[in-house]
Amino acid sequence: MSRKERYSPDRPERHRSWDERYAGEEYVYGTEPNEFVVAVADRIPRGRVLCLAEGEGRNAVFLAGLGHDVTAVDASSVGLAKAQRLAAERAVTLKTVHADLADFTIEPESWEGIVSIWAHLPRPIRTRLYGQAARGLVPGGVFVLMAYTPAQLEYGTGGPSDPALLVELSSLREDLPGLDLVIGREFIREVHEGTLHDGRSAVVQVLARRPD
Ligand SMILES: C[S@@+](CC[C@H](N)C(=O)[O-])C[C@H]1O[C@@H](n2cnc3c(N)ncnc32)[C@H](O)[C@@H]1O
Repeated sequence: MSRKERYSPDRPERHRSWDERYAGEEYVYGTEPNEFVVAVADRIPRGRVLCLAEGEGRNAVFLAGLGHDVTAVDASSVGLAKAQRLAAERAVTLKTVHADLADFTIEPESWEGIVSIWAHLPRPIRTRLYGQAARGLVPGGVFVLMAYTPAQLEYGTGGPSDPALLVELSSLREDLPGLDLVIGREFIREVHEGTLHDGRSAVVQVLARRPD
């Protein structure tokens, strides 16, 4: 097994292991936002943004800096504490929610944007969560996602080793009912985000919009 990120959310100690991963001073995915979030940030209507599995908060802090009212959810309290520290350093305000996305509820028509970056969840959790996300957007709101696809197993440059946690565009089309796919692509590209995501990678990117 490589030193790259290896985890299985089915293990009972899964959240403790994320806490351990985040325990050091270093931000393991860096403090700069994910490149796809940056690329599509101007497509998110100004307002309430929910960042799912947001870890140490780099995307949430970036979006808060653009003037959004951002809530970051994650199962790691250690990650969320670092998110608040980053927010304070950047002089922005962030709401953090410590929760397991397996039983997290997204209220309908509540968010201008919902962001899911490297959230590798079992399909039943994803289907439920993204279905709620689709309904949780206000009309005109957008869903933003980047994740590793099953082809990433050949690259070994980051992400889970369990194929069940990897994400295909075809499954996202099914899991985001009622949204228009503005961007939906699977491709190979360089990813350099901290020490755990580093190298040539197989990824999926989605920007999906709830019709007006
Ligand atoms: C690869 S990290 C990505 C962090 C962040 N989105 C980023 O781009 O820097 C995956 C995150 O998913 C979180 N996570 C995994 N399973 C979860 C679950 N069931 N509920 C909530 N968070 C979960 C972990 O705690 C971790 O912070």
